Amino acid sequence: MQHDLNHDRIAVVDFGGQYAHLIATKVRRSKVLAEIRQPEDSTDIFRQYKGIILSGSPALSSFGEDSAYNKEIYDLDIPILGFCFGHQEIAKHYGGAVVNGKQEWGHADLHINHDHPLFAGLGKVEQVWMSHFDSVTAVGPDFEELGHTILGAGSPPHRFAAIGSDKLRRYGFQFHPEVDDTLHGNEMIANFVRNICGCLPTWTMDSYVTEQIARIRDQVGDRSVFLLASGGVDSTVAARLFSEALGPDRLNLLHVDNGLMRKDESAGVIEMFRDMGLDRNFHFIDATDTFLEALAGKIEPEDKRRAIGDTFITVFESEAKRLGIEDHLLGQGTIYPDTIETGGTKRADTIKTHHNRVPIIEEMIAAGKVVEPLADLYKVEVRELGEMLGIAHDMIWRHPFPGPGLGVRLLCSDGRIEDADALETIAPAVMGALAKYGLTGAPVPIKSVGVKADLRSYEHPVLIHGDADWDILAEASGTIFKTVDGINRTLWNLTDTMPGSFKPLAATMTRDRLDLLRECDHLMMEGLRNHGLYGEIWQCPTVLVPVEIDGTGQELCILRPIHSERAMTATAARLPHDLLEELRAAITALPGISGLAYDLTSKPPGTIEWE
Ligand code: XMP
Repeated sequence: MQHDLNHDRIAVVDFGGQYAHLIATKVRRSKVLAEIRQPEDSTDIFRQYKGIILSGSPALSSFGEDSAYNKEIYDLDIPILGFCFGHQEIAKHYGGAVVNGKQEWGHADLHINHDHPLFAGLGKVEQVWMSHFDSVTAVGPDFEELGHTILGAGSPPHRFAAIGSDKLRRYGFQFHPEVDDTLHGNEMIANFVRNICGCLPTWTMDSYVTEQIARIRDQVGDRSVFLLASGGVDSTVAARLFSEALGPDRLNLLHVDNGLMRKDESAGVIEMFRDMGLDRNFHFIDATDTFLEALAGKIEPEDKRRAIGDTFITVFESEAKRLGIEDHLLGQGTIYPDTIETGGTKRADTIKTHHNRVPIIEEMIAAGKVVEPLADLYKVEVRELGEMLGIAHDMIWRHPFPGPGLGVRLLCSDGRIEDADALETIAPAVMGALAKYGLTGAPVPIKSVGVKADLRSYEHPVLIHGDADWDILAEASGTIFKTVDGINRTLWNLTDTMPGSFKPLAATMTRDRLDLLRECDHLMMEGLRNHGLYGEIWQCPTVLVPVEIDGTGQELCILRPIHSERAMTATAARLPHDLLEELRAAITALPGISGLAYDLTSKPPGTIEWE
């Protein structure tokens, strides 16, 4: 990340889990730039900030877990605020006590002991969100209790929900102000940033555009930028920004049809760039054959991702040469979480490699040959920027589409059953778990990626069959995850009868299979649009799974509409039954499809994509 010396900045120390990004987005809402930092970062790095926020963590402070972070931050004359784990660490460092087992979950009333700048403008009682095993039970000599919680009428107070030392400028909240269930969490965070740290609210989209334009001009000099324009929000907003900075003549855009796009997508992208007036140096290549060659015979998800990422670069380089574009920089629409997630943090297992952070790109970045004007922004901020730059609303609010496209939605297999023994134990356990709901079910003999306790899992889905409403299906899924090991997804069968047998099919990345998936995906997308539901759904992968049902030699199609905010967590969307009925009729009529199912899984334990 480029160091921004124009603005006051807050460091958000990422102790793992989901918290740090939420905190950073909320700080940014108060027009102050927040950056994610690692707990081991050097004191010199932390010294550059006007305030530090310590995030929550899955680790237990009471047992001294995750305690090897840079404690010299406490010697800096910079305000520090901790949430949950961070709060407990601050209490402990200054002579307080933390015990295990005093827990609170869910909503609680925070009773504020007396007026304090952290709670300026708020009531005496505030709804907050609690999620902790450990609690602070005593504070050190310079500290006071600023607030306590009461979980329900008549319950004894839970002490030290908010603590602080105005002398040391150290504060802690046991609750999570970054979660929306803490009703005035935004205000509390803004109070810290503005009233305690004294940050000025200068980090606005207007200032971002002005500064990025200057930076692009500075980095590019008299060279030009060559950008892969996928048609997604990030690269489109980046294209618009480059064109503002360099003028249309020094921006070359290349749209590659990699054969992994949605139906008719490339034609739509070309039209969109024409409408935006960015078609002067717009180039298009249909590289389907090159990509299919690189993918031939590949089955493993990470192998496929690598092949797609590398082929993009090869195609890009050879097109640049063919078009005579020399001395260019590679433009990328990389956004902030992409730079953090791929091995950027020691605590988060690298769940998937981001295609814009593959080794070949890392080398180009090191050589100063990559320019990424959105690398400081979260997706919501990219959208805000896009609207400011006048990009059409429908484009800005398109569903996110992964870089490797349908490549990660077309599952492949060598036809062998993995873990046949485990499946024999799982099958009766699934039936047992479903019996009380009047449902039946069976494990599907392929695996997909999921995420459990922030780690990658690679496990079987279970197909559930029977009539039930969404609440019962959600409850039955929960029961399966709780009681049956080796499962990370639940699916609801959308066909009339429960399949009698499943068998993996040997299947690779072929043009025919991609066309079939494209057709299923197209029907799903049209269904959402026709029912006016496209805008309500955050993303909707359609997945083709090479599992034959009842010896038909045909495949299983999965629909996965989800709600999400930042893709870190997700829940299955509940679509109306008439739409499901239309999709069932249309998709199962396609030659090559014998089964259709609806993914009911939240993230965690499933991921949004299947691989
Ligand atoms: P998961 O499957 O990890 O997805 O829950 C979270 C978000 O990331 C997208 N995704 C990718 N995007 N390259 C991308 O550019 C990838 O390899 C990739 N894998 C997942 C996914 O579509 C979702 O929005």
